Amino acid sequence: MNDSVNPEGAASPADHDGGGSPVLWLAPLLIAVAVIALAWGAIAAANRSPSGSVAVPPTTTSAPGGGSTTPPGDGGGGDGEAAARGEEIYKGTCVACHGPDAKGIPGLGKDLTNSEFIQGLTDDELIAFIKVGRPADDPENTTGVAMPPKGGNPSLSDQDIADVVAFLRTLQ
Ligand code: HEC
Repeated sequence: MNDSVNPEGAASPADHDGGGSPVLWLAPLLIAVAVIALAWGAIAAANRSPSGSVAVPPTTTSAPGGGSTTPPGDGGGGDGEAAARGEEIYKGTCVACHGPDAKGIPGLGKDLTNSEFIQGLTDDELIAFIKVGRPADDPENTTGVAMPPKGGNPSLSDQDIADVVAFLRTLQ
């Protein structure tokens, strides 16, 4: 009749036969992996969703003072490539809170252009800052909103962050 039903594997915890037990071990493990994967997916989606619609930089729509968003070769001291890579990283991670023009999104992130804070730090200090962020309860915090470590993207390498810093320098 129904030969495929296997009573050993289903529920026999006292059974010392190793045939059924690995399945019982695997079930909670798989659930844990699934939960972690879902959490990661949610973070990745949160990071990406705003950037998808703003991937095209505004060219002629708004130019209040002459389009200072991306100076083509002005002031470039050989950091142009790093800044270009940094801009891609910025668009992937930081844009969600600091906005496509880096002028900040109210309630999410601050203006990073013409920033006294950025201008007052060395590259190394700025890299160190981005790695730890600024919790909402930090006395230095100015908005009551947390800047998450690495902008909430733990996969960013030191080089990635250095490139983002090179990009931020072009906005000052
Ligand atoms: C989840 C939102 C969020 C993301 C993502 C984020 N930031 Fe921030 N960031 C903030 C907030 C909020 C502040 C302001 C904290 C405060 O009130 O002092 C801030 C502050 C900063 C500051 C200090 C500005 C100042 O004037 O004090 C820098 C620099 C900065 N962020 C860089 C970055 C970079 C680079 C990335 C991407 C790697 C990034 N942020 C991603 C929310 C975010």
